[in-house]
Amino acid sequence: MKTFNVYKLWPIEPVKAKGCKVWDKNGQEYLDLYGGHAVISIGHAHPHYRKMLGEQAEKLGFYSNSVQNSLQEELAEKLGKQSGYEDYSLFLCNSGAEANENALKLASFVSGKKRVVAFKGAFHGRTSGAVAATDNPKIVSPFNAGHEVTFVPMNSISFVEAELAKGDVAAVIIEGIQGVAGIYMPDPMFMKELSLLTRRFGVFLILDEVQSGYGRTGKFFAHQYSDIKPDMITTAKGMGNGFPIGGVLISPDIKAEYGMLGTTFGGNHLACAAAIAVLDVIESESLVMNAFEVGSYLIENLQRIQRGNPGRIAGIRGKGLMIGIEMESGFEDVRNRLLFEDHIFTGAAKTNIIRLLPPLSITKEDADLFLKCFIHQLSK
Ligand SMILES: Cc1ncc(COP(=O)(O)O)c(C=O)c1O
Repeated sequence: MKTFNVYKLWPIEPVKAKGCKVWDKNGQEYLDLYGGHAVISIGHAHPHYRKMLGEQAEKLGFYSNSVQNSLQEELAEKLGKQSGYEDYSLFLCNSGAEANENALKLASFVSGKKRVVAFKGAFHGRTSGAVAATDNPKIVSPFNAGHEVTFVPMNSISFVEAELAKGDVAAVIIEGIQGVAGIYMPDPMFMKELSLLTRRFGVFLILDEVQSGYGRTGKFFAHQYSDIKPDMITTAKGMGNGFPIGGVLISPDIKAEYGMLGTTFGGNHLACAAAIAVLDVIESESLVMNAFEVGSYLIENLQRIQRGNPGRIAGIRGKGLMIGIEMESGFEDVRNRLLFEDHIFTGAAKTNIIRLLPPLSITKEDADLFLKCFIHQLSK
């Protein structure tokens, strides 16, 4: 059998990594400013993470969600404390798409409504319709399968209001910062208005922090730059530092009932051990602060480079270590040369935006190396 190859692959195979460095099978070293797509939060192969996972694998890797699992409680408690959502509860799953699916499903279960409002340019995952093909009235209500979605422009509250006024909307879902669209942060004033509006209409507000969460932007969640408290927050990527895990943080106003949500693998022992280790390291190494400091340093310097290179860079956007460099020209050349000449991994969005999503443990020296190489490649 061959793999069902749905990705355009770079001709590089990483086989080893440590911190912000990755080595390919020929021994070539790379600086990782991509973090495996915003997944590596505490750095590759962190000793505490390796220890926790190794010890858990020796004890118990998996048992089902039908028995007690105190690791889930420990994870929920630590996540609540670090994120400021101590009064919320945590549903665990395996990925970002699943976290969003569960949040939307829960919103429909509770509200008895089917329609969802999302924003132009949004990305919330790639799954489609498993619950709609499930024939079990305990799991599928007439409302929670096959959501109808209406897309509205970002930062325009009147468009959202017009939809909510129709009375059939279960939830509004929005990214903390739009990632795949090219790093667009919603205006904090708009977020505040959105929060008040959803509350006024009794519609659930779901914050997708799958990419922008877990300290990446210099706050635990990006929406914490606005003074709001959503009804549900979804998370994944950085949560397991590469071990698949996702979660939905759920407001205390939403009460759990048996059968509402469920999963085979979600919250398993290994995934919880990985996620607890991640939170331990985020706290002990002050990685949210580091993301803010090194991220701000990168953004300020990139803006300086933009001013010094007219006609090359259309915009620098982002917060902390979620940065978009929108190129006016030479996007592919610059990105290819960064990879093949300077050995620096970067991410991309659309056809002209370089995305930086490094581990939160990146140092100022790593940032300087990137800036030096970027200036050099721009000058060619
Ligand atoms: C904002 C956002 N939501 C959801 C997802 C989907 O996550 P996953 O690929 O883990 O299903 C992504 C993935 O890139 C994302 O960026």
